[in-house]
Amino acid sequence: MQFFTKRLCVGILALAMVSMLSGCNVRGLFTSYGDDPVWVDPNAAATETAAAGDAGGPGKAVYGRICAACHLGSGKGVPGNNIPALAGSALAQGDARKPIAIVLHGLRGPIERNGVQINGQMAAWKDQLDDQQIADVLTYVRSAFGNAAGPVTADEVKAVREETASRTVQYTEAELP
Ligand code: HEC
Repeated sequence: MQFFTKRLCVGILALAMVSMLSGCNVRGLFTSYGDDPVWVDPNAAATETAAAGDAGGPGKAVYGRICAACHLGSGKGVPGNNIPALAGSALAQGDARKPIAIVLHGLRGPIERNGVQINGQMAAWKDQLDDQQIADVLTYVRSAFGNAAGPVTADEVKAVREETASRTVQYTEAELP
């Protein structure tokens, strides 16, 4: 028992030290701010593509970078906080044109999901994500979290992008193509 308590203390101490070290800017001790231009990872795009080998495909990386902030890694969303679940979402798994339109232009206004009233705002991603990235992320959403709908292609996204090019505000559910 005593041995165990000692091991536990050492463990906690080590954890505290690691968090202290990672919290401080070690490089900052040796360089001045002037030497340190904003650093852009030249391999950022390559990393996302490399993730294509992962189980979730390249869409998983896009999902983790953007969508998970609201819809959560589990796809369960926070319905009580006006963020619908993508897990089990009929809309996400239905005719691909609707989820494509949502990611391109956003969604606003009241919807009811699983008996919960949701009245949130999702922004447009048409300027940040290209056709392939939107196809990838929706392919992931439609096959993750227990969902079981078919993949989305970049050509499908391209077609909806062209067809809805004049759209300047978020869709409401009734307006979706
Ligand atoms: C800033 C938070 C936020 C982010 C980031 C976000 N969404 Fe949303 N999303 C929402 C909200 C809020 C709604 C519901 C809007 C409403 O109430 O009409 C929604 C709705 C949806 C819906 C409709 C679901 C249904 O069953 O009606 C889909 C599909 C969707 N989002 C996919 C995505 C994908 C894919 C991404 C990443 C590319 C993403 N969202 C990023 C907040 C977000």
